[in-house]
Amino acid sequence: MHFKLVLLLSSTFGTLTLGQSSSTTTAIVPAGTGLSGDYSGHYRPQIHFSAPVGFINDPNGLFLDDNGTYHLYYQYNPTDTIAGNQHWGHATSTDLYTWENQPIALAPDNSTSFIFSGSIVIDPNNTSGLFPNQTNGVLAYYTLDGPDQQTQDLAHSHDGGYTFTKYANNPLIAIGSSQYRDPKVLWYAPAQHWVMVVAYAQEFTIEILTSPNGLDWTFASNFTHHGLLGTQYECPNLVEMPMQGSDTTMWLLYISINPGAPLGGSIGQYIPGAFNGTHFSAVDAAARIADWGKDNYAGQFFSNIPGTQDQVSIAWASNWQYTNYVPTGPAEGWASAMSLPRVNYLRNATRTGYTLVSLPYGLEGLKGKEAVASNEDLGGNGTLLADLSDGSGAFMIDVNMTGLNLTGLSNTASVNFTIMASGSGEAINGGTFMNADATTWVDRGRIQGWSNIYYTDKFSTAYVVEDSFDFQVIVDRSMIEIFGLEGEKSATLVYYPEALLDTVIVRTGGLNEGVSVSANVYSLEGTWGSGQVQPNGTSNGTAFDRRDLLRGRMWDA
Ligand SMILES: *[C@@H]1O[C@H](CO)[C@@H](O)[C@H](O)[C@H]1NC(C)=O
Ligand SMILES: *[C@@H]1O[C@H](CO)[C@@H](O)[C@H](O)[C@H]1NC(C)=O
Ligand SMILES: *[C@@H]1O[C@H](CO)[C@@H](O)[C@H](O)[C@H]1NC(C)=O
Ligand SMILES: *[C@@H]1O[C@H](CO)[C@@H](O)[C@H](O)[C@H]1NC(C)=O
Ligand SMILES: *[C@@H]1O[C@H](CO)[C@@H](O)[C@H](O)[C@H]1NC(C)=O
Ligand SMILES: *[C@@H]1O[C@H](CO)[C@@H](O)[C@H](O)[C@H]1NC(C)=O
Ligand SMILES: *[C@@H]1O[C@H](CO)[C@@H](O)[C@H](O)[C@H]1NC(C)=O
Ligand SMILES: *[C@@H]1O[C@H](CO)[C@@H](O)[C@H](O)[C@H]1NC(C)=O
Ligand SMILES: *[C@@H]1O[C@H](CO)[C@@H](O)[C@H](O)[C@H]1NC(C)=O
Ligand SMILES: *[C@@H]1O[C@H](CO)[C@@H](O)[C@H](O)[C@H]1NC(C)=O
Ligand SMILES: *[C@@H]1O[C@H](CO)[C@@H](O)[C@H](O)[C@H]1NC(C)=O
Ligand SMILES: *[C@@H]1O[C@H](CO)[C@@H](O)[C@H](O)[C@H]1NC(C)=O
Repeated sequence: MHFKLVLLLSSTFGTLTLGQSSSTTTAIVPAGTGLSGDYSGHYRPQIHFSAPVGFINDPNGLFLDDNGTYHLYYQYNPTDTIAGNQHWGHATSTDLYTWENQPIALAPDNSTSFIFSGSIVIDPNNTSGLFPNQTNGVLAYYTLDGPDQQTQDLAHSHDGGYTFTKYANNPLIAIGSSQYRDPKVLWYAPAQHWVMVVAYAQEFTIEILTSPNGLDWTFASNFTHHGLLGTQYECPNLVEMPMQGSDTTMWLLYISINPGAPLGGSIGQYIPGAFNGTHFSAVDAAARIADWGKDNYAGQFFSNIPGTQDQVSIAWASNWQYTNYVPTGPAEGWASAMSLPRVNYLRNATRTGYTLVSLPYGLEGLKGKEAVASNEDLGGNGTLLADLSDGSGAFMIDVNMTGLNLTGLSNTASVNFTIMASGSGEAINGGTFMNADATTWVDRGRIQGWSNIYYTDKFSTAYVVEDSFDFQVIVDRSMIEIFGLEGEKSATLVYYPEALLDTVIVRTGGLNEGVSVSANVYSLEGTWGSGQVQPNGTSNGTAFDRRDLLRGRMWDA
């Protein structure tokens, strides 16, 4: 096996280029291979998931197993830091922050048929007949991207999702289309059948199919042309979730759009509605965008979390407009990370109605015992300064304002944050103007390490604010996420600074008498350790440090 691996890699070694390259290698790295990587780099996120080496994009196959382990699979090019050569990488975690890199889960059979995005379900009742002696059988649905068409294929795992066998009778669904992909499967208990949503990408159609056994699929309905189109629909999710403040649940159809997002490139939109096992109907005709930043795409919800409970999702934190050019590849041998894990439910928000709430999943465990800087009441005209130069490079700003009176406030009434690099003077600035049309903005334009024509720098969103407002900002070396108004709005952005951002200033100005503003800045403990992270898990593969390859050295097989 290792001999073959060396041959495959060495045969393409001559074309292996890094960085701003338009070519990629198609060397297959066999399933079962564990990879190691250095997580200490200047840009390396310390609490977000990124792969040991190589390029990642869409999260795939997210599921929570019955032992409480979250499984994250992901679109993976293990042999280059640009997109291509799709495998499924794999990592596991019990807290969604402390990840254990697992061996590659799915590898292509050859260099013309790649393993594109998909999803995983557990088949506890053995409806598929593939798991006669177990209740933790795992079904992985993925798109096989072949030379002529994209088909929906299956792989099954008998060890809880660590190793997979491709189904003998693949493909499950083949219609001769080259733009038909990203199956997301769920169990619809009222009808005791499986449901698949899959995108006819360029026909703006989400197809819904049903199956009694997860193997034989029947067309149920098409949901088409809703909300934003962009130029393609991808990565649909259909998920049931609670409606805040009521005992009822609602369904949500989540569709990723690329290219053609309003801000350029890639974005997700969501559609609240009803689902009866075969047909989805939207509550209204509105287009609802999931994130007001530019680096949040292909979000997926974990399966095996009951719809009556808050859902959990992860998205890819990048944008197809520039992901192949970011500097992390040339500098550190990895490219792209996942968003923070998000807790999701629906809220009936003031004026705008049905809104997907996104909040960072349980960060409590990563906070130090005490805030690095804290002010229980900054007041309407105050400043808080925090020095984070001793920390991991990951930290959080938490601001909560109560007793706001927007009547009669001047147009400059505001709360701002500045996140600076003391080593270079670079900064990310942001804030909220507190008036009748409260507006949050962020500016990554004073970061100097990298730029690109599509890497736009200023973003904003509007809220309906009454007498309180809160926001959390999470910073992680080359990523920033902003959550506002108890998760009603969220923004995900990447940035590549020359020096580490290590100083925070929070400032209020022009607010009304009687306002109370609590502001805290917490250092977040890195979850990756510092330095080389070794592969482990059930691999019988050989550890493979891609940097050896980049240095032109073959490893010992
Ligand atoms: C490549 O692999 C796919 C999927 O297993 C298979 O259908 C196809 O025939 C293979 N192509 C070649 C040229 O071997
Ligand atoms: C299931 O268990 C039975 C009885 O132990 C055994 O004969 C059979 O081979 C097992 N089937 C599989 C697929 O492991
Ligand atoms: C869960 O744990 C049990 C007991 O340790 C083990 O037998 C089983 O394989 C585990 N299941 C999964 C899905 O990992
Ligand atoms: C498994 O079977 C139980 C009992 O019939 C049923 O309630 C449940 O919905 C089934 N779940 C799956 C995923 O097959
Ligand atoms: C569903 O939509 C797709 C894409 O437009 C189309 O090809 C297909 O025929 C539709 N299916 C049915 C049954 O109408
Ligand atoms: C689901 O909704 C569709 C469209 O309204 C309808 O035709 C179908 O009968 C419904 N199915 C059930 C089980 O209610
Ligand atoms: C949402 O809230 C509005 C205003 O309070 C109310 O009129 C509407 O019925 C609510 N909608 C739902 C689905 O709860
Ligand atoms: C806010 O604080 C600054 C600095 O202490 C002071 O100069 C300014 O007058 C204050 N503004 C208001 C509106 O209180
Ligand atoms: C903000 O503070 C108020 C008053 O202490 C509290 O009720 C509310 O839950 C806080 N909001 C957030 C998001 O922390
Ligand atoms: C809010 O401010 C306006 C204008 O200063 C004042 O008339 C009103 O009484 C205030 N409302 C509250 C609840 O304090
Ligand atoms: C916040 O920043 C904006 C934009 O630079 C500025 O207009 C406003 O005065 C600032 N507010 C405070 C309190 O610093
Ligand atoms: C993986 O490595 C870590 C750190 O060395 C260790 O704590 C953990 O037990 C290992 N897991 C497995 C499954 O070997």
